[in-house]
Amino acid sequence: MQVRIYDNAQQVGTACAMLIAAQVTKKPDSVLGLATGSSPIGCYQQLIEWHKAGALDFSQCISYNLDEYCGIAEDHICSYHDFMNKNLFDFINMKEHHVPNGNAPDLQAECKRYDAEIEKAGGIDLQLLGIGNNGHIAFNEPNKHFVYGTQIVKLTDSTIDANQRFFNSREEVPTQAISLGIGGIMNAKCVVLIATGKAKAQAVRDAVKGDMDPQVQASILRGHPNAIFLVDKDAASLL
Ligand code: F6R
Repeated sequence: MQVRIYDNAQQVGTACAMLIAAQVTKKPDSVLGLATGSSPIGCYQQLIEWHKAGALDFSQCISYNLDEYCGIAEDHICSYHDFMNKNLFDFINMKEHHVPNGNAPDLQAECKRYDAEIEKAGGIDLQLLGIGNNGHIAFNEPNKHFVYGTQIVKLTDSTIDANQRFFNSREEVPTQAISLGIGGIMNAKCVVLIATGKAKAQAVRDAVKGDMDPQVQASILRGHPNAIFLVDKDAASLL
């Protein structure tokens, strides 16, 4: 695992966008694993800018998002489908983009379908991640073990508290989500994790320096041959 420390969140976003741009330039038909939340926004803005300037073409790329809430409609303003449309897909020419369906009538079948689809596409070339305050990656919450496949997850109080900022009230935050499993993330050829701000400092420390422990799901990335953490000074303050 490599850790690269930057002065601020903007520099982290640009560094992340450069890694994605390098991936797409090297392999125009890349399969990208994408994330939602505050962490990737700066990166997405930079990718959009380069795309608009004619410097970056996604026309052969396919993307798979990490996760989606269960129980809110795809066009709900807080859904991850909506987030991705408004923060990236509406502004670039991605060939195909996929987000798991948190409202599928058979959620277990949807988990299997999503994993099979990623495998059929050849696996993920570059997986972008944020990290939860509790060390989660995607919605793989602290647990007694690492779960391999895409799964339905009960969100922890810590995650519901953290995500409440996107909703009108805490009661509106869904309590369940569909999430790519740890196997799907570890199978990616390259993993890039973004962490910015003091609230992430403990999780980053535990992931980078603590034991490899499913209570801090991001710690498994220490066993990945090509994982890069891009962090600002605040998120790196406990390293
Ligand atoms: C989002 C996701 C989550 C977030 C994490 C950090 O698709 O899978 O793991 O990356 O909760 O969220 P932010 O970036 O909002 O702090």
